[in-house]
Amino acid sequence: MKTRDPLDFTGRVVWITGAARGIGLACAEAFSQRNAQVVGMDLQLTDALKLCATRALELDVANPVAVAEAAALLAESSLAPDVIVNNAGITRDGVHWKMPEADWSAVLDVNLSGAFHLMREATPLMRSLGRGSIVNITSINGERGKFGQANYSAAKAGLIGLTKAVARECGRFGIRVNAVAPGMVATEMAKQLPDQVAQKAIEETLLGRIAQPVDVANCVLFLASPLAAHITGQVIRVDGGQYL
Ligand SMILES: NC(=O)c1ccc[n+]([C@@H]2O[C@H](COP(=O)([O-])OP(=O)(O)OC[C@H]3O[C@@H](n4cnc5c(N)ncnc54)[C@H](O)[C@@H]3O)[C@@H](O)[C@H]2O)c1
Repeated sequence: MKTRDPLDFTGRVVWITGAARGIGLACAEAFSQRNAQVVGMDLQLTDALKLCATRALELDVANPVAVAEAAALLAESSLAPDVIVNNAGITRDGVHWKMPEADWSAVLDVNLSGAFHLMREATPLMRSLGRGSIVNITSINGERGKFGQANYSAAKAGLIGLTKAVARECGRFGIRVNAVAPGMVATEMAKQLPDQVAQKAIEETLLGRIAQPVDVANCVLFLASPLAAHITGQVIRVDGGQYL
């Protein structure tokens, strides 16, 4: 008897935030290549996302009302999620003693509250399906703290706590919740950093290179798939050993 390829997502709906570019787009493309129905959400949509997504939605994950409306709309359109990738993220770097309140709040609102808003709307939908996998994109800087990133480190550390709490709350419904913690990844976000910071990141890795977005997407695919059926509440680093 032929068994189903565990990385074939035919018949599965995958919601991805921050899907217009970078890691989110790599996830959207990876799931789409494996036959998933991808719902890509972002502040601004791109042609690349529209090309691979079943549905592309303009959405600010920091806005709880907009997130609730989007989730209801998708559920009504038979696009309730089997998989969620909370990937939307921003940085507003600066040492904490000079950090404006607005930069603190903006980073917490998107990176941490954004994931909370979407999970609050989506896990009841997943519960009615009796299954689900959520992958939250945190960062090694949420684990180790990073100079100049008090807001970002706090948000990403908070996302790890949120991941574990929701994993506890949802395990009995067959919903798994995990986090992926990338080191530096070659995206627009990383390009904003000074050259010496990027060089230091390469030197910190054991593999002599920073990640490509697809390196992160591959781990997300694994966690979303039945190959990870007994994995929940975990944080997996995709960092070439940078954290060590
Ligand atoms: N690039 C890295 O080095 C790195 C390292 C560790 C973790 N991460 C995390 O990975 C995730 C993706 O990062 P990336 O490097 O691809 O960044 P990116 O800046 O290339 O892409 C982020 C995407 O999120 C979208 N976005 C921002 N605010 C949003 C909002 N309020 N609502 C919806 N979408 C929003 C942006 O429009 C953009 O398309 C982020 O959570 C980031 O913190 C990145």
